[in-house]
Amino acid sequence: MSPRSPVILGTGSYAPERILGNAELARTVDTSDEWIRTRSGIRERRIAAPGEGCSDMGVQAGRRALADARVAAADIDLLIVATITPDMPMPAVACIIQHKLGLPTASACFDLNAACSGFIYALDTACAMLASGRYHRALVIGAEKLSSIVDWKDRATCVLFGDGAGAIVLGPSPDPTGGPVRRGLLGTRLGTYGASADLLCIPAGGSSLPPSAKTLAAGGHFMKMKGREIFKTAVRAMEEAARDILEQHGVGTNQIALVIPHQANSRIIEAIAQYLELPMDRFFINLDRFGNTSAASIPIALDEARRAGRIKTGDISLLVAFGAGLTYGSALVRW
Ligand code: UT7
Repeated sequence: MSPRSPVILGTGSYAPERILGNAELARTVDTSDEWIRTRSGIRERRIAAPGEGCSDMGVQAGRRALADARVAAADIDLLIVATITPDMPMPAVACIIQHKLGLPTASACFDLNAACSGFIYALDTACAMLASGRYHRALVIGAEKLSSIVDWKDRATCVLFGDGAGAIVLGPSPDPTGGPVRRGLLGTRLGTYGASADLLCIPAGGSSLPPSAKTLAAGGHFMKMKGREIFKTAVRAMEEAARDILEQHGVGTNQIALVIPHQANSRIIEAIAQYLELPMDRFFINLDRFGNTSAASIPIALDEARRAGRIKTGDISLLVAFGAGLTYGSALVRW
């Protein structure tokens, strides 16, 4: 193993206190608990408190990951926050989180927008930057306040999303020899179907349609989604990303201890399981409790899986995601 190959030193996550169940949602929008459960697998989601921002959730998750890793904030020199819901369009929420966590000023801090694939993109970026030798310890956070961009009158989207944050700390292996086998990120396979960018987007508020009274009245600042079309692309993309990475690294599906998929829809996860011929108990699922938290979904799941004892040293995990863009990606991690 290269002495510069980073390993995951710790994980952390945070979920806002407020739980919004399907039955409660069905009182304000034309839907039902049965529809949401059978079509998506979601039972409830967390909603950030008024005034609780993406940065607040990211800070909580980041602090827990640092404590778990036993790494001091002062020792982090790279912070990447995967998000589509920063506190404000500018500056990057990473800058706000850096300050709140007390990371050194001599740390590179930036946001990364790859929507629901954001955490895998950020993991790959952080590992590449650490492997360059120019950075030493990274905090990678996925944090989302999707409740702020969801149209609570649009039943096709508002039932699916939730708020939360997850984080990992990456750094050199505590074992100076690196151990007998290579640990950390074994590889990634990232991709994008840019031709499908319009399937999931916030049409207004960017430079092509700046905010105005007209865009506000038209609801252009809310997330718009063509769910059925995304479903098909998601299954194809995730299967492709999973197969490619296993093949590239000569890893058989029987060697995968746990798959941590993006938590969007249990039917999507079941389809992937079927294509990969893996039993469902090899997949970690918490979307029933959190809904889709976009870039936060995989790091929250990672943290829960570790704390539940479902990840052990030496295990290989397969992470796989898709999201707006349409971006997709997979990563193989040995613990
Ligand atoms: O991280 C990436 C984010 N995006 C996704 O993960 C989306 C992927 N897609 C999906 O998860 C699924 O396509 C959905 C869960 C969004 C929808 O499930 P579906 O089985 O594809 O349903 P559909 O969109 O084909 O809609 C079926 C029916 C429609 O009514 P008609 O046209 O058959 O009369 C919808 O109007 O269900 C209706 N419908 C609802 N009914 C009750 C749509 N949303 C709701 C709702 N409650 N919340």
